[in-house]
Amino acid sequence: MSRVEPVVSVLLDPTHAATSLVEDVRRGLRAHPLRLPPKWLYDDEGSRLFDEITRLPEYYPTRAERAILEEYADEIVAACDATTLVELGSGTSEKTLLLLDAFTRAEQLRRFVPVDVSEGTLRAAAVSLSERYPGLAVEAVVGDFTLHLGRLPRGDRRMIAFLGSTIGNFYVEERGAFLGVLGDSLEPGEWLLLGTDLVKEADRLVAAYDDAAGVTEAFVRNMLRVLNRELGADFDPDGFSYAPMWDGRMERMDLRLRAEMPQQVRIPGAGLDLDLPVGEELHIEISTKFRLEGIAAELDAAGFDVVRTCTDPDGDFAVTLARRR
Ligand code: SAH
Ligand code: AVI
Repeated sequence: MSRVEPVVSVLLDPTHAATSLVEDVRRGLRAHPLRLPPKWLYDDEGSRLFDEITRLPEYYPTRAERAILEEYADEIVAACDATTLVELGSGTSEKTLLLLDAFTRAEQLRRFVPVDVSEGTLRAAAVSLSERYPGLAVEAVVGDFTLHLGRLPRGDRRMIAFLGSTIGNFYVEERGAFLGVLGDSLEPGEWLLLGTDLVKEADRLVAAYDDAAGVTEAFVRNMLRVLNRELGADFDPDGFSYAPMWDGRMERMDLRLRAEMPQQVRIPGAGLDLDLPVGEELHIEISTKFRLEGIAAELDAAGFDVVRTCTDPDGDFAVTLARRR
């Protein structure tokens, strides 16, 4: 079968980094606590570091979700009638191959739409996916899933896959709003496949986000390098310590950078000067952990019926198949 070239649509305008980052920095660093949206972690270097994280011995989520897909991908495909698979925050789509292989065995899928803000990673993935699945239309979208759900391709019966527990990187109020928009963007009868990391012992969680090789720390620190490069800021990344902690009340990992010396930081691209006292923290990312009953309740509130919940043998991670009511 001849290979169909991937189509790549770019929904982020060319000034995205300049305009949207400036707005996020002004909003996030003028408020208290100081907070930045995690999507800015994923420049080329951040995407490379995340890929390295997925192979760390301490970072169990990728392996657990892969084990679930290895075991249940055929059953998931058999339980749904999707002919287009949309993947949000697809990155390299490495685990998604297990789903795509199952769809291929069932001869069910016509189109794959990976969506990611990280253009280089997405383009590379689109080319290799087209080579691997010659009969599949690969229509990649460089876009932001917090902005562009209304612009996803329509037609066909769609399944939206949101894997890796990326949903856990939203704050709780953002998560509810996101799931609501996600529900609204699907037609009744269409599908959602959601990957969620589950609550477990604090020491395993802390180890997963404070690995011995320091890769996660480098990933989090990369946020400062992005601000320095894109906005001409003069953050001294070494003036901050990495402070990952488990927040047992909110059931989430909280990844922060803490100023270890008083710092005056200029961010000319955002017209902002910061005076950071010792101990001031930048909130870079949270990673919420879930319970099965909470996932079902949140999906129900967003207009979904849970059809199937799959977990790995250790009960570390869940993949939930849900259908839009
Ligand atoms: N799904 C993959 C990758 C998870 S890492 C996995 O399970 O391993 C999170 C991915 O989401 C990255 O590829 C990052 O570039 C992307 N991402 C983060 N915020 C995004 C946003 N707002 N819109 C689109 N993609 C986003
Ligand atoms: C993408 N996301 C689900 C990862 C997580 O585990 O929250 C991002 C990450 N941050 C540090 N390590 C991994």
